[in-house]
Amino acid sequence: MSNKKLYIKTWGCQMNVYDSQKMADVLFPLGYAPTETPDDADLMILNTCHIREKATDKVFSDLGRLRDIKDARAENKPLIAVAGCVAQAEGDVIMKRAKYVDMIFGPQTYHLLPEMVLKANGGERVINTDFPVESKFDHLPEAAVESPSAFLSVQEGCDKFCTFCVVPYTRGAEFSRPPEQVIEEAKRLAGRGAKEITLLGQNVNAYHGGDYDLADLIAAIAEIDGVQRIRYMTSHPRDMNDHLIEAHRDIKKLMPFLHLPVQSGSDRILERMNRKHTAEEYLAIIDKIRTARPDIALSSDFIVGFPGETDADHRATMDLAEKVGYASCYSFKYSPRPGTPGAVMDGMVSEAVKDKRLQELQALLFAQQTRLNESMAGRVLPVLFDRKGQKPGQLLGKTPYMQSVYVDASERLFGMMTDVKISRAFQNGLAGEIVTLEEVLPKKSA
Ligand code: SAH
Ligand code: SF4
Ligand code: F3S
Repeated sequence: MSNKKLYIKTWGCQMNVYDSQKMADVLFPLGYAPTETPDDADLMILNTCHIREKATDKVFSDLGRLRDIKDARAENKPLIAVAGCVAQAEGDVIMKRAKYVDMIFGPQTYHLLPEMVLKANGGERVINTDFPVESKFDHLPEAAVESPSAFLSVQEGCDKFCTFCVVPYTRGAEFSRPPEQVIEEAKRLAGRGAKEITLLGQNVNAYHGGDYDLADLIAAIAEIDGVQRIRYMTSHPRDMNDHLIEAHRDIKKLMPFLHLPVQSGSDRILERMNRKHTAEEYLAIIDKIRTARPDIALSSDFIVGFPGETDADHRATMDLAEKVGYASCYSFKYSPRPGTPGAVMDGMVSEAVKDKRLQELQALLFAQQTRLNESMAGRVLPVLFDRKGQKPGQLLGKTPYMQSVYVDASERLFGMMTDVKISRAFQNGLAGEIVTLEEVLPKKSA
């Protein structure tokens, strides 16, 4: 096997993180091993995101750096590839504007990578942004790398067409993988040491594979030996059905955390966004979930400054966030995306107003996050160590509520689930110490 190096840089959502892993898996049998830097790479892939405008700018500036590396090399010139949602949406533009790019391919074509690489190595420029009829999932290989916390893509695409969003155009129509295929993959991941499995989809709770809905799928995966934690993301409020809410009450392995984006708290804006629910309906769902699982931690995405958003609409968003009390959120300034209905709506909001609203919202959300984290101080929580810390002797893990925890601990504990006593809280994480058996067991009276 030849010894070639593969560099992949990933932007965007967890689907892209999963896809990057799959690309590495597909290329492994061709002799490509991962490298952390483009400097010594034979194949460089930018796995891109098109959700907001800066992402595209960053792709072009990164491409410039890759070109310099390619130009500087006298021989063994690397292949430069653009994958992901920018490739899907703007493949033709990149092809024309960046002649040094060898390959452009969209998210539905990764199983065809070996052929494409072969062609590109033969000097042909490759562009493939098709939505093939066969599913890439029928052809992608097993994970080559093991991780205690694994992503498993179960659903792709989106038919919701929110008026701000490019996903329905870049990822295509909604598609659920067959449940047998997903359960098999979950078994293999567990067999290779995954203790936590996160089911992924742009609208994962719309999952419908055969007779299975998402709750059925979670129940089946909970039966697998070795799987200790199950999560899923991202969900749409419209698809948050009672069956799934009951799963939060009944399935112990399903973690008490839910990412349920609301985007806005104003009915008028929700309507213009084509979200197909009201603020009140969202709050009613949250109530139901909290009844089923009182300690659940909630998160959301918000967009400020959508066209037509007034001060009163913004106050409605602040009110909603205040009422829910979130554990952690993502919030963005609206970014008009070419080809989406929002981009041509009237009532564009100025940058200055967007900035002010974002600051105000983030101040509230950060305060909520800090408050929740502080409420954990002194508690003992099970933590799954799934990352190495920056300093040696430090591990990073996650609580059931998705908080990151830093712990001074031996590397031997990597991949293990251990009780940790939380000692300190920050806005975006916790620090703690391993609880020794002595502390947990009741003391013997002398
Ligand atoms: N499928 C998920 C969201 C996917 S995109 C859902 O339905 O909630 C992730 C987040 O990016 C969105 O929730 C939204 O908050 C943000 N986003 C998407 N398009 C955007 C745009 N044009 N401008 C600003 N933020 C956007
Ligand atoms: Fe985009 Fe809306 Fe689909 Fe989410 S539900 S991916 S925001 S169109
Ligand atoms: Fe970005 Fe595509 Fe994901 S646009 S958010 S990488 S689906």
